[in-house]
Amino acid sequence: MVIAVLGVQWGDEGKGKIVDALCENAHLVVRCQGGANAGHTVVIDGSKRVLHLVPSGILTDGTYCLIADGVVVDLDVLHAEIENLANAGIDVWKRLAVSKRAHVVLPLHREIESIHEEARGKARIGTTGRGIGPCYSDKASRLGIRICDLLEPKRLADRVKALYRAHGLDDRRSAGSVEAAMAYLEGFTETIRRIAADTHAILFQALEANKRIVLEGSQGFLLDIDHGSYPYVTSCNTGIHGLLAGCGIPPSAVTSIVGVAKAYVTRVGGGPLPTEMEEPIQTEVRQKGEEFGATTGRPRRCGWLDLVALRYACRANGVTSLAVTKMDTLAGLDTVKVCVGYDYGAQSLDTVPAEAEALGECNPKYETAEVWGDLSGVQCFGDLPSEARSYLRAIEHWAGAEIELVSTGPERRSILRAKQLT
Ligand code: GDP
Ligand code: IMO
Ligand code: MG
Repeated sequence: MVIAVLGVQWGDEGKGKIVDALCENAHLVVRCQGGANAGHTVVIDGSKRVLHLVPSGILTDGTYCLIADGVVVDLDVLHAEIENLANAGIDVWKRLAVSKRAHVVLPLHREIESIHEEARGKARIGTTGRGIGPCYSDKASRLGIRICDLLEPKRLADRVKALYRAHGLDDRRSAGSVEAAMAYLEGFTETIRRIAADTHAILFQALEANKRIVLEGSQGFLLDIDHGSYPYVTSCNTGIHGLLAGCGIPPSAVTSIVGVAKAYVTRVGGGPLPTEMEEPIQTEVRQKGEEFGATTGRPRRCGWLDLVALRYACRANGVTSLAVTKMDTLAGLDTVKVCVGYDYGAQSLDTVPAEAEALGECNPKYETAEVWGDLSGVQCFGDLPSEARSYLRAIEHWAGAEIELVSTGPERRSILRAKQLT
């Protein structure tokens, strides 16, 4: 049984928390795409953990975790994350494997990204600075360094030389850079030797035994390189298509596709966000929802729930159920609005336009929602105030899928289940 969990907004929907909620009895939890640009938060009894590369399943005893083929691996981040988890008493070395096919992010990629962002000036994307774009570019150009290369020193040296040559950084022009890259990579050989694996074999064994497998998406569908607001996107496919390509299992293996949505929207970095809130309400929501990047600490832009964008994402991903987070953040506000269409010049749009510029010029058509009060005592769906239930019903209607989980706070226990997902 394969449960795919993915973001249906602009990232940071609360995927970490939802994956954690779906991990019970899971045999495998798999990160499929993206890299250390992701920051997935799980809060257990007041202790907060932010995971960038290791799947959130590592926080559930007995669950085995895979970093699959489509992930771009930042070795510094991975090593630090493993050490932190091990120091916290988690048997991470025994429960984590990284695909030999996964690509490696080099310091060079972070440098190139910083030059690209600088060159864009005002049109900068506002990336996480983790070298994700340049690493995926080198992968597509067939120049990338893969995890398996770290296990073969001769092949590694050849590949690093070829990569630097292709970037015009051969030894004649920038003495020492190849050696520095080799020294950097060799520093991680032992770590990689302990966890590198053919993750296909592990996945297919689990599939054949009909074990519970959770695929942990990163970023959100509106940041997808093909379907998001290009060029203000990340550099991979963030939807179901990207998850499957990234771990190498067939679409027919998937049992359910859980779309994770916040009760409002946030976006970090540049690019259009049609429903961005006015001040002072935006600051109020940011503070109440603690909307500061889990990876970079940047303040997140906050907007009203965009049902047009949500429908676009749920359709494209074939979402079979929804998890809605942060209902508590909207509780007690004076007004809550939802966007049900866009005015674009003289046109009325009911879907997301292809051009980022056009999306940026869309004026949302709003409906006002009935507000609800404090949710702290709510233990089950039936306890939710009727206004909150109406809000959730509107989301179901637009998404064309039922809500299975509602999150009412950052803590692991602050979760309502419509019925146990099978
Ligand atoms: P992810 O990248 O999708 O895993 O999301 P992030 O971890 O980057 O951001 C989600 C933030 O919201 C984290 O700080 C979570 O602890 C927090 N969070 C998740 N669900 C809820 C919720 O229902 N209510 C509140 N107040 N916070 C939540
Ligand atoms: P999780 O998995 C929110 C955004 C960046 C930037 C754009 C490109 O935690 O939801 P990149 O570094 O990927 O080249 O940046 O994408 N971005 C995210 N925003 N959550 C994320 O991941 C993100 N990963 C990338 O802010 O706008
Ligand atoms: Mg995040």
